[in-house]
Amino acid sequence: MNTDMKIAVRYYTKTSNTQKLAEAIAKAAGVHAETVDVPIEEDVDILFLGSSVYAAGIDPKVKAFIDSLDSRVKKVVSFSTAAILSSTYAQVKKLLSEKGISIDEREFHCRGQFKFMHRGKPDKRDIENVQAFVKEIIS
Ligand SMILES: Cc1cc2nc3c(=O)[nH]c(=O)nc-3n(C[C@H](O)[C@H](O)[C@H](O)COP(=O)(O)O)c2cc1C
Repeated sequence: MNTDMKIAVRYYTKTSNTQKLAEAIAKAAGVHAETVDVPIEEDVDILFLGSSVYAAGIDPKVKAFIDSLDSRVKKVVSFSTAAILSSTYAQVKKLLSEKGISIDEREFHCRGQFKFMHRGKPDKRDIENVQAFVKEIIS
């Protein structure tokens, strides 16, 4: 791991699925995960940004957070959970591109429990997979 690299983790969650990924990512990167209520106030090389799908869209709080970002953030890596949709990548990418902030082509997505669907997801395997993903990104 490049120790000079500044990494931040922000996420939004309603039912804690995305929070599970965020905390695993933060652990693998040696930082703390914060919600999107905590603004980015320092230079960041890689911002891991976690979101989910609610009624086919990302939450307005995630949109407001992306709108608050500026050139202090060099690159965003998106991660997400959802019950049906494949990921939030396209929605996050569109908003970031409007701000002129780049997004890594690589993303992490897995299923998230929703009522009776995908019980226990993200599970242990997903946590291992997301941590391996982080190592690949920051190596
Ligand atoms: C109010 C609500 C609406 C949802 N709508 C969708 C949806 O339209 N498409 C989908 O794929 N998943 C949908 N889901 C499932 C969530 O995307 C999934 O459970 C996700 O893992 C939730 O992440 P969170 O626990 O971090 O909030 C919805 C969940 C909730 C609570």
